[in-house]
Amino acid sequence: MKIGIDSIAFSTSRYFLKLKTLAAHRGVEFEKYSHGIGQIAMSVFPPSEDIVTIAIDAARKAIAQIENIAAIDFLIFATESSFDLSKAAGIYVHHFLKLREDCRVIEIKQACYSATGALQLAKSYVRENHNSKVLVIGSDIVKYSPGSSGEPTQGGAAVAFLVSADPQIMIIEDGSGVHTNDIMDFWRPISESEAQFDGKLSAYNYLKSLDISFNRYLAKTNRNISAIDYVCFHAPFGKMAQKGALQIKWPNPLDDTLLYNSAIGNSCSASLYICLTSLLDHSKAPLENKRVGLYSYGSGSVAEYFSGIIAEKYRSIITPEENQRLLASRKEISFEEYELFCSNSSDSANKTYENSGAVRLKSLENKKRIYVEN
Ligand code: HMG
Repeated sequence: MKIGIDSIAFSTSRYFLKLKTLAAHRGVEFEKYSHGIGQIAMSVFPPSEDIVTIAIDAARKAIAQIENIAAIDFLIFATESSFDLSKAAGIYVHHFLKLREDCRVIEIKQACYSATGALQLAKSYVRENHNSKVLVIGSDIVKYSPGSSGEPTQGGAAVAFLVSADPQIMIIEDGSGVHTNDIMDFWRPISESEAQFDGKLSAYNYLKSLDISFNRYLAKTNRNISAIDYVCFHAPFGKMAQKGALQIKWPNPLDDTLLYNSAIGNSCSASLYICLTSLLDHSKAPLENKRVGLYSYGSGSVAEYFSGIIAEKYRSIITPEENQRLLASRKEISFEEYELFCSNSSDSANKTYENSGAVRLKSLENKKRIYVEN
């Protein structure tokens, strides 16, 4: 039975900061960001936008690409930017999407790996429930301390994809290489809104885990690198993915996979799947029946190397114009506005900002999040 990604869409903030602006205010040469890190901009989120609002926008677009919405009976929300230790963020999505009342909803976490964990879980679920569709959402907003070395690698986005039998975008193959090790390279204690990190250790462990999981994948599947046509890497920043390609001696350019991420920044759980979307949208060569290798890395850490075969129908399902329009229509903000967004001050909360989708976070009432349709 062929199981995999049936439709896919992403969403991000309506606002972005150019890293040229950040570099000028931090006294850093822009080339460090553009060449050293490989990023040109990052999405920045107004107070009315959070992991739920962008998830709803992404999920609405993913669902619009399929016919049988009633088949969705499981929603897995993958995130490390959760704001509630009890209620799953996916329940808000379930409400606004009007999914069936007997649809299971859970939230899962393992840093940027979580959407891949959700994909593998969904695949097993569909194997047991052939007619089901599972809605997987990866939604994250990445925040580091202003002025820290992590600052140019912030960002955020949500990706939503449906996992089903006979998928229209990509068949996920059996056989993957997994590597888990206990390491403090990136973490966010419950009391903190900003992630803590050890940048050099995280880059080292990303590459070491890639080496181990990739070789494990090759051994398990009895393949060698020439059996893989394209590769996508988790991209906390473009240069990290480029270093990943060097690590596994990948000969071809990654450019098509990194176009969206270079403008969005790190979107954690969504990042790998936005790379895949970027490849689908930008590849000039036909991708039907091609094998794509995918490297998922989540600090802390769990890594998995796996692969998929692009389905015959993918061109009729993807939405490159819509994705490119979403990014092209974002509004650039000034450094002062960026500081205002970061401060979470009442000045920014009282202003009206645009959201990407139709749902916005209206207010917090008795610590309850109130979402409304525009
Ligand atoms: P830094 O200390 O500012 O960087 O932090 P640096 O001084 O090492 O410079 C970066 C690169 O720019 C270097 O190139 C410099 O040579 C170059 P490299 O040696 O790496 O090839 N450079 C220049 N190039 C051109 N012109 C110049 C110039 N100056 C310097 N003038 C770092 C950079 C990425 C470490 C920092 O931003 C950081 O710690 N970010 C957060 C952590 C992170 O993203 N880690 C990635 C791996 S872990 C991961 O992917 C998981 C994650 O997504 C979280 C999760 O799983 O949930 C983060």
